[in-house]
Amino acid sequence: MDIVVENLVQVFGEAPKQVLALDRVSHRFPSQKFTCILGPSGCGKSTLAQIIGGIEPFTSGTVTVGSDAHQKSRIALGSHSVMVWQHLNLFPWRSVIDNVAFGLEMQGVDKAERNERAKALIASVGLRGFEQHRPPQLSGGMRQRVALARALIMERPVMLMDEPFAALDAQTKIVMQEELVRIYERSKRTILFVTHAIDEAILLGDEVVVMTARPGRIKEVIKVDLPRPRSQDMVNTPEFGRLYNRALHLIREEVLNAMKQQDAAVG
Ligand SMILES: Nc1ncnc2c1ncn2[C@@H]1O[C@H](COP(=O)(O)OP(=O)(O)OP(=O)(O)O)[C@@H](O)[C@H]1O
Ligand SMILES: [Mg+2]
Repeated sequence: MDIVVENLVQVFGEAPKQVLALDRVSHRFPSQKFTCILGPSGCGKSTLAQIIGGIEPFTSGTVTVGSDAHQKSRIALGSHSVMVWQHLNLFPWRSVIDNVAFGLEMQGVDKAERNERAKALIASVGLRGFEQHRPPQLSGGMRQRVALARALIMERPVMLMDEPFAALDAQTKIVMQEELVRIYERSKRTILFVTHAIDEAILLGDEVVVMTARPGRIKEVIKVDLPRPRSQDMVNTPEFGRLYNRALHLIREEVLNAMKQQDAAVG
């Protein structure tokens, strides 16, 4: 399902204290592709993901998800997409299986069916045997897998991920990236993945949308032609190095711009 954003503007707050978070952002996020959104802190990455997911209304522009075009209005929450955050919002008092099956429970799917589907997904993210555990009994990486399974069970064509692995330790992060690559390559959803990490963006994405410092605009779109299936070994290839250096150069410019803006605001 293509997602097309045209001249999207997002202004927060009331005059004179308004913040222009997104400034005429236009992009086509192609169907069944994995797009990473990279940019300095505060540039509007989360805002963009939340608008597409229907969590935030927007100021002006057009957002089209599939065949539904929206202007100056909120997209119906959850109509096409499901969101995965860094802060997982799992229910700590519910078992793993009841967390994963929650969305189906809300849809009124009967218990036998939802448990069967949840069990299959729990196994597919490597958590077989942990169905009856509760989130506080799991490691950070295991909790992140539960959150992934809980999103996947909704079978929405679009998955929006906002820095989902940012809080994980380096090794767990590598494992989770490989897991996500595997799931994506098998299920071919349209994925928008927000990240600060350049290596993560290149390893996962078919393209990397680099945003400017606030107000967020699209600075450059980097096509990532690395073959699939992807694996962590690719980070040592010359092609990966070339893409990394390009993204680093763009991000460095924008982080310096953001710092200048802050200095100007303070001074
Ligand atoms: N609900 C809101 N009300 C007012 N301002 C907001 C709101 N949400 C975001 N902003 C502002 O809009 C700008 C963009 O925020 P956003 O959270 O989208 O940035 P981000 O790129 O996700 O940053 P980070 O990388 O730190 O997560 C920021 O200046 C932020 O302070
Ligand atoms: Mg954010």
